[in-house]
Amino acid sequence: MKLLNILALSALCSFSAMAANEATVSLVPSKESPVIQKEIYGQFAEHLGTCIYGGLWVGPDSDIPNTNGYRTDVLNALKELHVPVLRWPGGCFADEYHWMDGIGPKENRPRMVNTNWGGTVEDNSFGTHDFFDLCEMLGCEPYLSGNVGSGTVEELAKWVEYITAEDGPMANLRKKNGREKPWKLKYLGVGNESWGCGGNFTPEYYADVYRRYQTYCRDYNGNKLYKIASGASDYDYNWTEVMMKNAGRHMNGISLHYYTVLGWSGSKGSAINFNDEDWYWALGKCLEVGDVVRRHCQIMDKYDPKKRVGLLVDEWGTWFDEEPGTIKGHLFQQNSLRDAMVAALSLNVFHTFTDRVKMTNIAQIANVLQSMVLTKGKEMVLTPTYYLFKMYVPHQDAQLVPVQVVTPVKKARDGREVPVVSATASAKNGVTTLSLVNTDLTEDVTITVNLNGISGKKISGEILTAANMNDYNDFGQPEKVSLKPFSAKAYKVSNGKLTVTLPSKSIVTLSLK
Ligand code: AHR
Repeated sequence: MKLLNILALSALCSFSAMAANEATVSLVPSKESPVIQKEIYGQFAEHLGTCIYGGLWVGPDSDIPNTNGYRTDVLNALKELHVPVLRWPGGCFADEYHWMDGIGPKENRPRMVNTNWGGTVEDNSFGTHDFFDLCEMLGCEPYLSGNVGSGTVEELAKWVEYITAEDGPMANLRKKNGREKPWKLKYLGVGNESWGCGGNFTPEYYADVYRRYQTYCRDYNGNKLYKIASGASDYDYNWTEVMMKNAGRHMNGISLHYYTVLGWSGSKGSAINFNDEDWYWALGKCLEVGDVVRRHCQIMDKYDPKKRVGLLVDEWGTWFDEEPGTIKGHLFQQNSLRDAMVAALSLNVFHTFTDRVKMTNIAQIANVLQSMVLTKGKEMVLTPTYYLFKMYVPHQDAQLVPVQVVTPVKKARDGREVPVVSATASAKNGVTTLSLVNTDLTEDVTITVNLNGISGKKISGEILTAANMNDYNDFGQPEKVSLKPFSAKAYKVSNGKLTVTLPSKSIVTLSLK
């Protein structure tokens, strides 16, 4: 058994003599604990495969039901998730994107080859106006990823001016293209994966380039940019070290990318055909993000002890082999109960770093990697990950309630360990939301929750599970994985303790009043 002390924002280990299918979770409410910023639930949309074209955008003339060109089914589904922020246009695509090709009459727009993603020809019919309109429809903050790798300082500076200035040459061009009022732009990424597809820079060189580019990205007419430096991938702690040392004072945030992936060369495994070992391996690998974030945070603390600079995990999620028969380079993968588990465990980890981690963006919103929705022609499927995000909506902008978890652990490949139980809790408007995960593939687990004064008079709950670990939702078939009410027979409260039994491989969210 292990004690996972999330109160201290780190994991302490201790052993106890509880049975393998029992665990305890103690809620430790504290007035001091931080708010789980809604931006932790951010999304990412890249010009990659059918994420934009077909997934979000079909154009106003399409016979697929749409609202001014945006798929109505997808729009409605995404509204339910309260998407707080959307990152665009990449990813690797961002460093080859020239924004001026995506404004003005659509028939005049130049085409380009999307060299990163399958060599598909991009017609630039979805551009700046379409993205900002989408954000307005979803009620979310736009997060632009600027081109540093193949662009110029002037190009990026003018993009900011075009979007946010009330007057001047770029504002006039915007007005000519049909948008009178400037938009608000908060989040600006200065490059993406600048150590790789974004230019193959060394951290020393990129730090200087970053300082130069960000200088000319101005605040117009009361707009205030939150400038984000392109950060490390995974375990590249030196990148964060050099960036914080050389450019820390010029940034508001720095990014981090962490994928649950088998490796960057060779097979990444199937999204739906996997065995028990693969299940635990993926959960162990995703949980490692806690250690990775902690180590990047320690470096940031050295240069920024007051935590002014945010760490933004602006790409995360599962990365498996593309589904057979789909286009190579389009990264279309199915999404099973395992993906929902990865999402739950990752979000539970991110909740514990809210003092430094200010945003995360799962990759990606539609038809690419660990998506919310999958589309095929007129059909749309909501993935298990979609339902997990829906289940977790109450945590957005709620105050963290720290938890201590004592749980059995499972051994996984590569020396990893997976706790059987993971938990997170938050409070908002007099309601405490408690999310509990049972990662065990075969055993139910009975959890004793010490409420520590939190009311459990009125409880309701939802469960996300499936008959099989690799169940998924497919086109034209009834949903196998979706949210269901959680039976009141599975829990009881007595003497300030809640006892709840979670079926194997399930995620439950309880609302306590
Ligand atoms: O999300 C897919 C790709 O993964 C992004 O374009 C890139 O930034 C990362 O390598």
